Amino acid sequence: MTEPTSEHVSVLLDETVAALNIKPNGRYIDGTFGRGGHTRAILANLSSQGRVLGLDKDPEAITAGQRLAAEDERFTIEQCSFATLAETVNARLWQGKVNGILLDIGVSSPQLDIADRGFSFQKDGPLDMRMNPNEGMSAAQWLAHADMDEIATVLKTLGEERFGKRIARAIVETREETPLTTTKQLADLVDKASPFREKNKHPATRTFQAIRIHINNELDDLSVVLQQAIDVLAVGGRLAVISFHSLEDRIVKRFFRDQAKGDDLPSHFPIRADQLNPSIKLVGKAIKAGETELARNPRARSAVLRIVEKVA
Ligand SMILES: C[S@@+](CC[C@H](N)C(=O)[O-])C[C@H]1O[C@@H](n2cnc3c(N)ncnc32)[C@H](O)[C@@H]1O
Repeated sequence: MTEPTSEHVSVLLDETVAALNIKPNGRYIDGTFGRGGHTRAILANLSSQGRVLGLDKDPEAITAGQRLAAEDERFTIEQCSFATLAETVNARLWQGKVNGILLDIGVSSPQLDIADRGFSFQKDGPLDMRMNPNEGMSAAQWLAHADMDEIATVLKTLGEERFGKRIARAIVETREETPLTTTKQLADLVDKASPFREKNKHPATRTFQAIRIHINNELDDLSVVLQQAIDVLAVGGRLAVISFHSLEDRIVKRFFRDQAKGDDLPSHFPIRADQLNPSIKLVGKAIKAGETELARNPRARSAVLRIVEKVA
């Protein structure tokens, strides 16, 4: 049974609105609509001419978006991955005309809090973890077929789980006897296979993170959207990305650094830095949640906001 929908507390809300440097008549894209906290804050800064397009993979986020679209004609919502941003923007003839894009990567609180979605090791539910449960393979389906080395690699690279091999072996041995179909089964299995516990961290934390990132293709989607976002922005437009763990933040940080540097020429080349044709400039430093926000919303602890502006 699905519990009542929990709310999502938007992270770094004021900082994100400031980061987007909103033009009242501008066009904005919220690539991770969730429950629309950031979208509403953007809409509050727009005139009647301004527009926001929301994207999300999750059907429940789309339902929330449709409700907002019915109330506010400046807003539209589309169910897709932000990895297809360029296509979606081109279909609206918005290419080169977008004034700001926000990506608030990762999972929403309702996804984590509703047991039926299968994201949480703290609640028993079907082992699903798909942001769009109508598309692709569930965690249970992947774990039923993946070979031991593949599982171990995913746990190690996407969860930084040092007992990845042991856990992968336990998964493969267990599934020969009983299929793994619930979050509790997987959480208990990881607990048993882990030789010791980290302080204040459930032993299944890393395994659940790794499987979620893998089955939702999260790092690949992030890697492809960044270039598309820069391409569709108008000159002077801003891209703001909030990431929640080091694997994501590393992708964002490196991409921004490289694009802000411009053409990749040998360092001895006789050319000035301003002749390297960078497409973006960095706006300020990485921003983290302050004490007041953390006291209100502990989930903001690992959030990092990075901002760039298109210059050419
Ligand atoms: C952290 S929540 C966003 C919360 C939102 N900013 C708010 O204030 O309500 C992340 C959302 O992004 C969605 N999402 C994650 N990866 C996505 C992708 N590749 N394409 C589209 N949506 C994605 C998730 O389904 C989730 O609803």
